[in-house]
Amino acid sequence: MLQDLSHSDALAALDFQIGIGADEAISDTPIDRYAASVAAAERKRAAAEARPSPVQMPVAQVMPVRQPDADVVAVARAAASAATTLEELRAALESYDHCDLKKGARSLVFSDGRPEARVMIIGEAPGRDEDIQGKPFVGRAGHLLDRMFAAIGMERQAPEAEKAIYITNILPWRPPQNRDPRPEEMAMMKPFVERHVELAQPDLLVLMGNISCQAMLGRRGITRLRGSWSEVLGRPTLPMFHPAYLLRTPSAKREAWADLLDLQARLRSLS
Ligand code: URA
Repeated sequence: MLQDLSHSDALAALDFQIGIGADEAISDTPIDRYAASVAAAERKRAAAEARPSPVQMPVAQVMPVRQPDADVVAVARAAASAATTLEELRAALESYDHCDLKKGARSLVFSDGRPEARVMIIGEAPGRDEDIQGKPFVGRAGHLLDRMFAAIGMERQAPEAEKAIYITNILPWRPPQNRDPRPEEMAMMKPFVERHVELAQPDLLVLMGNISCQAMLGRRGITRLRGSWSEVLGRPTLPMFHPAYLLRTPSAKREAWADLLDLQARLRSLS
């Protein structure tokens, strides 16, 4: 039991939990799991006694009937394409109940910056800070992203749309322990991201990191993809190193800077 631990053992236990990915307390009051498990075992035993034996039971009651899975991607596509404004798209996401990540997240993280911006950045998924604030890229990686774009004279809320950026993610809900999004989660969210791009109508897209490239280009391998323009939904699209990667690998900032200059040059050539 936790109260029997010495101070140093309790600290070591906490350190271990942080090491395996626990990054927040989920309850303000302690829960006596031992008492709860005794009560649960008692309830299970009582229920087993009350239940008729399987021999007496009709087969249909023993075997739960499995409903066929709805085509959740088709549902997402229909919901996304029915949205005619960004507000409607946000509402469509709020009503979409097929992605389990939604149940574990505090917030829907939809976008930040100015939708009129010429550049739309597509990141991966919210982390803890984004989940709390309900906005993309507001943690350490987000601060670096802001500094990167400030270096070419751009910022989220720049009064002139020319200098503004608009930011969203592939997933609008935080995955538990910031794990990588699963293929089925990306498949469900892709119709929403595509509609987001169609409604915002940016001139250029930036895909931040491997997950965004996987979702939008169907390819991973950011070290090779970065810096090479391709086209997504009819728009020039530039994969770049994710700012979280740049925090871990500062030597890669050289390439990120080259990509930012390339982006700036492309914007000038299109205007
Ligand atoms: N990383 C992302 O890709 N998106 C966020 O919103 C935050 C961190």
